[in-house]
Amino acid sequence: MGSNIKKSAVRSQKSKTTPLTPPLQKGRAGGGAPDLSVNIAGINLKNPVMTASGTFGYGEEFAPYLDLNRLGAVVVKGLSLKPRQGNPPPRIVETAAGMLNSIGLQNVGVELFVEKKLPFLKKFDTKVIVNFFGDSIDEYCEVAKVLDSAEGVAGLEMNISCPNKQEGWLEFGTNPAMTFKVVSAVRKSTKLPLIVKLSPNVTDITAIAKAAKDAGADALSLINTLSGMAVDANTRRPKLGNIIGGLSGPAIKPVALKMVWQVFKAVKLPLIGIGGIMTAEDAIEFMLVGASAIQVGTANFVEPQASIKILEGIADYFKKNKIKSVKELVGSLQV
Ligand SMILES: Cc1cc2nc3c(=O)[nH]c(=O)nc-3n(C[C@H](O)[C@H](O)[C@H](O)COP(=O)(O)O)c2cc1C
Repeated sequence: MGSNIKKSAVRSQKSKTTPLTPPLQKGRAGGGAPDLSVNIAGINLKNPVMTASGTFGYGEEFAPYLDLNRLGAVVVKGLSLKPRQGNPPPRIVETAAGMLNSIGLQNVGVELFVEKKLPFLKKFDTKVIVNFFGDSIDEYCEVAKVLDSAEGVAGLEMNISCPNKQEGWLEFGTNPAMTFKVVSAVRKSTKLPLIVKLSPNVTDITAIAKAAKDAGADALSLINTLSGMAVDANTRRPKLGNIIGGLSGPAIKPVALKMVWQVFKAVKLPLIGIGGIMTAEDAIEFMLVGASAIQVGTANFVEPQASIKILEGIADYFKKNKIKSVKELVGSLQV
């Protein structure tokens, strides 16, 4: 990955030694290892650090670079009923403090995942959370049913940032009535813990969050990528093959923080914060605004061990500030 994102990764290394804000910064580090465990939607995680869907493959791609056993959970690339090729290239473009992608939900399909990818992941002492989607309510339910009977899946993360191709192409996650319909149907198709992943491309994210809760979601994760595009002034052409893509990375962190804070105040469900988390400080900020756990996405492309470094930084912060559990921090923003 290029220079813009690298700069913030470098900043993160420096900030490891920078004291964090008072009044939390009191006393010296010491004592035993802090308890970082959290329970999200009935899933017991050893720590609140997960990898974000689509940025960590099916886990095996990253296994040579970091110890997957240390992660709270691995969230795999979004799965559909049948394999998908995705969008035409180019599919990734760097932007100011972020990146645009138009992968187009390329994946191996749920059956092949269960047969070929899940056995590898099951060997590790980490939770496997499976991200999935569909073109129709029926497809969402079919995928959920296959996963429901697969051993080794700790929970489902439902990506509702995709168009409902059966009913007019509007994205499931941009309309509360449609969110309610698809989440209720999936809720009836699986007994697994159900996390609904929210799209930021909406006027009022709290309305969608409430609809997901009313339909039976056990937890919410937010945010997915922000819709965007990039243009080449010299060729007068779009930089992405698909013209439009999804923006991620440090550029979206302020938007994500605001949305987690809004949803935290509006809906009583565990929240997973996502969006531009490059450092432990970023992760702590998400906890302060209401996230009980976090996902690391674009940072994995800059530094494959980013999630482990963020985990270590969170542990240091807990020790320095004598924080005994994640709960103490969640939503404790002083306003
Ligand atoms: C290349 C790429 C592929 C992604 N694929 C998926 C996906 O399949 N399902 C999904 O729910 N989110 C997907 N996302 C969104 C991320 O999981 C995450 O929500 C988003 O990138 C914001 O986090 P970040 O700024 O830390 O990357 C993808 C993101 C990227 C960059």
